[in-house]
Amino acid sequence: MAAAAVSASSSRVLVLSFALLAAAVSSLAGTAAALSTGYYNKRCPSLQPAVRSAMARAVAADPNTGAAVLRLFFHDCFVNGCDASVLLDGPAGEKAAAPNANSLRGYEAIDSVKSQVEAACPGGVVSCADVLALTARDAVSLLGGPSWTVRLGRRDARAASRDAANANLPGPGSGLPALVAAFAAKGLSPRDMTALSGAHTVGRARCATFRGRVNGGGEAINATYAAGLRGACPAGGGADGALAPLDAETPDAFDNGYFRALVQRRGLLHSDQELYNGGSQDALVRKYASNGPAFAGDFGRAMVRMGNLAPAPGTPLEVRVNCRRPN
Ligand code: HEM
Repeated sequence: MAAAAVSASSSRVLVLSFALLAAAVSSLAGTAAALSTGYYNKRCPSLQPAVRSAMARAVAADPNTGAAVLRLFFHDCFVNGCDASVLLDGPAGEKAAAPNANSLRGYEAIDSVKSQVEAACPGGVVSCADVLALTARDAVSLLGGPSWTVRLGRRDARAASRDAANANLPGPGSGLPALVAAFAAKGLSPRDMTALSGAHTVGRARCATFRGRVNGGGEAINATYAAGLRGACPAGGGADGALAPLDAETPDAFDNGYFRALVQRRGLLHSDQELYNGGSQDALVRKYASNGPAFAGDFGRAMVRMGNLAPAPGTPLEVRVNCRRPN
């Protein structure tokens, strides 16, 4: 009897443990825990070389494509996780949100990489979200920056939200506390935020995003640098789309030039200079400015953490064949 009672109670414990385990696993479904480095080893063994060669061609034709896809990945992951929702066409989608409209680019490059991946592994085997994660990694290394191992197995959203993009993406007028808060909301530390901002060592911004900084008073900005930008971006308006490099010295090289520029008060955006303006990130900015490998290592690790941001449990997901629309 005693033995039977023990076994009945231990089987209840077992049932209960299993139920808890099942609940834990199902709540993890679609989260980072499901990602793995070997996800496509059997499903699509030629995936990574296919993406790398497609990106090498795209970046050789236009180096800014590298910057463009890197930013696409950030804007994807910060809005309901890395689910390629940013790539969905449509007026209510993320492309139409204020931080993205007339600003994000590189969609055609992703279309081209995805069609080459579909040619290698047809029928919607590889998700658009994974293609984006790999193109961002390859873009950085093709521009001379670090590389890292990308965990794979992301799935794609069936819908995108303009409102969520407006709510989650920090703007160029943000102060340091707002920047720290926007990244903390995604589980990323101030150090991750500063390292990831180093992406602004490549690419360009429109006059509309830095007009106030180069023409206004009260900004911590190098006077010669500001004067040089005012010609193309005058106070009076117009020229909203005129582009200036985010890192004036080496705009197409993924190096630590962005941080050296910040120390000289040559950050292009107000939000850039906020990382070095007497606040909590000054010491880290100085470190990255003088130690390229320290920046490169932190950047790669922070990209992995950002790439682990997952859609909320219960979000309908699939592997899209065409990144611009649900299947
Ligand atoms: C910290 C908060 C951030 C703010 C406020 C911010 C804001 C901006 C703005 C306003 C632009 C110019 C857009 C335009 O003029 O159309 C830009 C460009 C860019 N951003 Fe950020 N960004 C931030 C973080 C990041 C992160 C984390 C990444 C990637 C890891 C990133 C990658 C880029 C790149 C590569 C460009 C140049 C894109 C191109 O040339 O097409 N940014 N960002």
